[in-house]
Amino acid sequence: MKYIRGLGVKNYRVLRDVSLGMVTPSPSGNNDSQQPFHTGDPLTPLTVVIGRNGYGKSTLCDALSFIGDCLRGDAEHACALRGGFNNVISTRSNQHENHKLEFQILYDNILYTLCIAADKYNIPYVYAETLSHVNSDFNNSTSMNFFTSNGEGKVVRADSESVSDIKLADSRRLVLSTLGNLNQFPDIVKFRQFLDSWYLCYFKPDAARTTQTPGSQRRLNSYGNNLVNVVQYWENEHKERLDNLLKNILKPAIGITQIETKSTEDGRLLLRFFESDGERPFYLSQMSDGMLKLVAYMLILCDPAPAPFICFEEPENGLYHKLLAAFIDEIRKHCDQQGNGSQFFITTHQPYLVDALKPEEVWILEKDKDGFATVRRASEDTIVRNMVAEGIPLGALWFSEYLDTVEENIF
Ligand SMILES: Nc1ncnc2c1ncn2[C@@H]1O[C@H](COP(=O)(O)OP(=O)(O)O)[C@@H](O)[C@H]1O
Ligand SMILES: [Mg+2]
Repeated sequence: MKYIRGLGVKNYRVLRDVSLGMVTPSPSGNNDSQQPFHTGDPLTPLTVVIGRNGYGKSTLCDALSFIGDCLRGDAEHACALRGGFNNVISTRSNQHENHKLEFQILYDNILYTLCIAADKYNIPYVYAETLSHVNSDFNNSTSMNFFTSNGEGKVVRADSESVSDIKLADSRRLVLSTLGNLNQFPDIVKFRQFLDSWYLCYFKPDAARTTQTPGSQRRLNSYGNNLVNVVQYWENEHKERLDNLLKNILKPAIGITQIETKSTEDGRLLLRFFESDGERPFYLSQMSDGMLKLVAYMLILCDPAPAPFICFEEPENGLYHKLLAAFIDEIRKHCDQQGNGSQFFITTHQPYLVDALKPEEVWILEKDKDGFATVRRASEDTIVRNMVAEGIPLGALWFSEYLDTVEENIF
């Protein structure tokens, strides 16, 4: 299965230097192919980041979303959405050489790095960007697809292996979005498509309850305000799948036997739910937040063509703890489907969710003495590994403060 083996973020808000899984120590702008890889073990198809409030869970999801915003818009747009470059760059990273946002993604054996700086007018631009192939045993040899530094660089054509110079007309835009749309560069296209198809879920029950007009839509958007339209799509295209979802998951978990859309005379599209056959339906506005959330999550997970990388930020909010276990069970089925599953990235602080996890799937965020986030894998701790091997659930260890450093005076 192709999946993200490593992620690195530098100077992004509270994430001054954080990496998960396999990363190279100093990627951006550094085209030194002799640089050895970090020996970190790769990420697992289910990766869960835990941490107390304010430790950087949301920031980590937002860093992923930032890369997507750079890809679909540009670096200036991505920063503007977040209050500008100065708001995004880590505070106190004002030494000249550190004043850059850095990201790296190792997806299968493709290493992508992106570095964003701001010019003298504080306009963000792409300072450096690289895409390369790392050889299969991940030692130090890589073959380059493209690199740019300060708007100039080179690209290799896959068919002829010829190297051409490139020069950016607009330094705020990613090379990945430009070359990744040209068939001459099939590897770049594939990586661009992968990055573009990430699904970052910020489902909000109130957004799902907003009035919608008829029209089926294939995928739920990030906040879920097209939920009714997605159900309409399933009714039209995947009725049997919807019935199975109801029978196997939604009825046993929350007692819902039927979901259907209904168009009104004044052009709205309503969503109705039935608890048992022939009963009076109830509507979106009457549905509890937790039930609505589970319905939305299941539509995401059971999508016939799910996104390859799916991120849920604190999915537990509003979910009854037993539903949470059902949710994680379902995630496991979808991350391991003979190589066709999705990869899941979840942030949480809920012990019940952590209970369902293995130590190598869990990353713990903490803060260093300067107040910046640090992260480590639960499986790196021998005591934790042994306690889990003896049958103590990981969530219980998290609850009893065995996983992170105990902070005095928390209240
Ligand atoms: N530019 C910045 N530099 C450093 N820290 C920042 C910056 N912007 C926000 N923060 C800090 O990041 C933290 C917010 O982290 P967040 O990801 O929301 O935490 P969580 O989701 O784990 O509760 C806050 O402590 C905030 O002070
Ligand atoms: Mg948060």
